[in-house]
Amino acid sequence: MASLELNKFAAGILCAGLLAMVAGKVAGGLVHPVYLEQNAYVVDTSALGGAATSPAEEGPSMEPILALLATADVAKGQKAFKKCAACHTADKGGKNKIGPNLYGVVNAGTGGKDGFKYSAPLTGLGGNWDYASLNSFLTKPKAFVPGTKMNFPGFKKVGDRAAVIAYLRSLADSPAALPTAVEIAKEASGG
Ligand code: HEC
Repeated sequence: MASLELNKFAAGILCAGLLAMVAGKVAGGLVHPVYLEQNAYVVDTSALGGAATSPAEEGPSMEPILALLATADVAKGQKAFKKCAACHTADKGGKNKIGPNLYGVVNAGTGGKDGFKYSAPLTGLGGNWDYASLNSFLTKPKAFVPGTKMNFPGFKKVGDRAAVIAYLRSLADSPAALPTAVEIAKEASGG
């Protein structure tokens, strides 16, 4: 008797399953879904700092940093520089370690420290280390200079980068000028 009850029960489940399958087929035949070619809501990721973009595209799409530099906390930057200090000295005339000495690096030519053997990609970079290029480089060194031998993942937070760059700026006999209001406005409007 108990096994008959069990059979009834099993048959019930089987029927329910069959019914669901048939219903699915019928419904599929009646409804013709239309698939959009594009997501209806397109997510604009261009403002995220361009992790996967090439260096040339990175500049204008970067999060604005210039306005932050004037008020950035140099002491906080000096603290964050501990992450750099494994490879870089910051004092005037300091020796090159795994990376070059960084005294006076703001606005200096890229790859310009005497006696340091830079990688070919960094030597070929050209230009100066201005605030914008430092910002891009310190966001993700290997994205801005593919093939660089600087093994540092970068700072995700723009505030951290601003603090470190403000600290780098202080490492000079006469620190580079802070960005002007015009430069800040230009950057905010996308370069
Ligand atoms: C693991 C070691 C390492 C760490 C950590 C590191 N760097 Fe570097 N850095 C290097 C090396 C090596 C180079 C030379 C890169 C090349 O030649 O490709 C370099 C190059 C640079 C340059 C270019 C200098 C020039 O003369 O062109 C800057 C600016 C710089 N680093 C800043 C920083 C800052 C700021 C930090 C911390 C946030 C940091 N680095 C952390 C190893 C490091």
